[in-house]
Amino acid sequence: MSESTGPRPALDLEAFPPSFAWGTATSAYQIEGAVAEDGRAPSIWDTFSRVPGAIDNGDHGDTACDHYHRWREDIALMKELGTDTYRLSVAWPRVVPGGDGPVNKAGLDFYDRLVDGLLDAGITPSVTLYHWDLPQALQDRGGWTVRETAEHLAAYTTAVAERLGDRVTRWATLNEPLCSGWIGHLEGRMAPGLTDLTAAVRASYHLLLAHGLATQALRAAAPGARIGLVTNHSTVAPASDRPEDLAAAARMDGHTNRWWLDPVYGRGFPTDMRELYGVELPEKPGDAELIAAPLDWHGLNYYFPVTVADDPEGPVPHAREVRLPDVPRSGMDWQIDAGGLEALLLRLTEDYGVRELYVTENGSAFPDAVGPDGAVHDPERTGYLEQHLAACARAVRKGVPLAGYYAWSLLDNFEWAYGYDKRFGLVHVDYATQKRTVKTSGRRYADIIRAHREATAG
Ligand code: IFM
Repeated sequence: MSESTGPRPALDLEAFPPSFAWGTATSAYQIEGAVAEDGRAPSIWDTFSRVPGAIDNGDHGDTACDHYHRWREDIALMKELGTDTYRLSVAWPRVVPGGDGPVNKAGLDFYDRLVDGLLDAGITPSVTLYHWDLPQALQDRGGWTVRETAEHLAAYTTAVAERLGDRVTRWATLNEPLCSGWIGHLEGRMAPGLTDLTAAVRASYHLLLAHGLATQALRAAAPGARIGLVTNHSTVAPASDRPEDLAAAARMDGHTNRWWLDPVYGRGFPTDMRELYGVELPEKPGDAELIAAPLDWHGLNYYFPVTVADDPEGPVPHAREVRLPDVPRSGMDWQIDAGGLEALLLRLTEDYGVRELYVTENGSAFPDAVGPDGAVHDPERTGYLEQHLAACARAVRKGVPLAGYYAWSLLDNFEWAYGYDKRFGLVHVDYATQKRTVKTSGRRYADIIRAHREATAG
């Protein structure tokens, strides 16, 4: 891992404690493939990816990175990068194919082998229970719009925790409920592809309830578990000083940030947003306490900031995203602004009182290719990584209790509605041959990890 990646911005690595966890992240549907093997049943993403026009190029996760068969090779890549930890998700439709009911032993066996393989390699698994792959059988019965789905997630959680809880201690209940709730049920760009405000608000409620119930199930089944929730956020700026734009920014902040954090940190669902949505929440006594059950850590996924203007005729939250000219952008067309990461880490610490934080995802897509020299040179991704790690270091210096950073992603993978064209990996995947090639950014990450270890070695 010695290839030069060009001039190095100063990285304050000593800001990170010696115990800082360096990791990479993936999710089941995005990398595993093997969608019909060993008893796995379809998820909403198997269904959605068959809807004409839903996914760029008609891509789907049938094979993806074939990680289900190549996981040993992928663990070897993690070792090559020198990472301490790996964030994976368990596929609910492998473990409980019907969504509720019988547990599929063969599905659990896969994660059992994977966890043992990671531990043998000295890599700490961080397991997310729900990264969007709801069993289709549950969608057919109402999916996240009905309360029973939250209860079924808790039962599935118990099955996973009973099997893996003797070896896995770092658990997350959900990944990015905002995407399941808003993008899946309001914007229709993700599975299950609905555009229905009532369904979206109900789904958002049941997702957070599921988080609470899964937390309870984990505490019961795996007493040593350290439990967190992974949410994605953006900083929100108004497009101008006009009062209308300032109000739009406050609404967008409520939609993107407060709706998903306030109830988890004991403040209940924000009143202004309840009024804006105008949808009755399916609340029952005791739910608020379940949703706000104390957590051991919080996971922040950060990619980009947003700037918004008032949009009274547009969909809730009546805030239109404004495209700023002359700002750096990734291949997703997302604005690159590492300052947003620092600001959100500070907000979670100072405003919400989080006492242990991880950046559970952060990364960028660019159109990489294997060069004639057989290498993948990705200076933009390397720059993005360095800038965001510098932002993390600044946050730590300001008192943020940041315990680790997971680069998204270990591998190029199935980027949901964008299919395989958007490559986020530190490792390039040739989908025709499944050949993996560590990119220059991956080598730089390995250098940073090693330099941090050297800088903080007692
Ligand atoms: O690929 C996704 C991941 O599944 C969830 N967080 C954002 C990533 C990039 O879009």
